[in-house]
Amino acid sequence: MVIIKSPREVELIHQAGLVINEVFKQLETFIKPGLSTYDIAKRCEDIILAHDGYPTCKGYEGFPGAVCVSVNDTLIHGIPSRKEIIKNGDVVSVDLGVTKHGYIADAARTYIVGHVEPRVEELVRVTKEAFFEGLKQVKPGNHIGDISHAIEEHYKKYGFSSPEDFTGHGVGVSFHEDPYIPNQGEAGTGIRLREGMTLAIEPMICLGSPEYKVLGDGWTIKMRDKKMTAHYENTVAVTKDGYKILTMEDEHGED
Ligand code: MF3
Ligand code: CO
Repeated sequence: MVIIKSPREVELIHQAGLVINEVFKQLETFIKPGLSTYDIAKRCEDIILAHDGYPTCKGYEGFPGAVCVSVNDTLIHGIPSRKEIIKNGDVVSVDLGVTKHGYIADAARTYIVGHVEPRVEELVRVTKEAFFEGLKQVKPGNHIGDISHAIEEHYKKYGFSSPEDFTGHGVGVSFHEDPYIPNQGEAGTGIRLREGMTLAIEPMICLGSPEYKVLGDGWTIKMRDKKMTAHYENTVAVTKDGYKILTMEDEHGED
C-alpha cells in the first residue's frame, strides 16, 4: 500500500533529510585513510544525535550498525567494523536513514579516497548521474517504470550493471514502503506517481558482473567478481508538477 503524505508530513521528512545532508557534508572532509568503517559510522551517529535524530538503520531488522558503510566490492549493507581500515584508493559508500519527529528519510553517497583508476571515477560519476536521470521522470502521471528505465539506460550505456534483487522504495512513515523502484524496467509500466508520494531512488551500480553473495553475517552484499561498486540515493517527494529532493539543501539537486 502506497502512503500518500500531506504537505506537513513531507516537510517533516525534509527535516529528517536535512540531518542526512549535514552528515554527508561533514563526511566529505572526515573520511581519510587510517579510519575504520566503525569510526565513520560513529561520526555519522554523533551528528545525527546532535540534530535530534535517530539512525534508522540501528537495530532495523537486527542490523548491528548505526549506518551502512560499504567499501569497494561491497555493494550495500556493509556492517561498520573497527577492523576494516580505509586506505588510499578505496571507494566508500555510506547509506543511512534518519528518523526525526517520527518521520524517516534515507540517502547514500559514495566517496573516493585518494586516487582511483579513471574507470572507477566513471563508475561513481555515472551512479550519481543515473539517480538524476531517474529523477527527471518524477512527476504526477508518470510511471514507476519510467524512473527504472531511465536509470537502467544510463548505467548500461557505460557498460555497468546492477543486481535486480535490490531496489529503491517508498519511505517516510516506515523505512521501506511501497512502491518498490527497481534499477531496471520498462517505461510506461508500474503504478503511476501521485503528488505526496515520497520515494527513495537508489542506483546501486557494479563495474563488473551483477552476481553477488550474502556474507555469513547475513547482511553484507559482496560482488562475486570482487570488482568495485557505487551507490547514490536521495529521498524525493512527488510535487504538483515534478519533484522536490528532501535529502539535499537544494530541492533540485544543485551542489
Ligand atoms: N538505507 C538502506 C536502504 O537504502 C537500508 C539499509 S538496511 C539496514 O534501503 F538494515 F541497514 F538498515
Ligand atoms: Co533506501
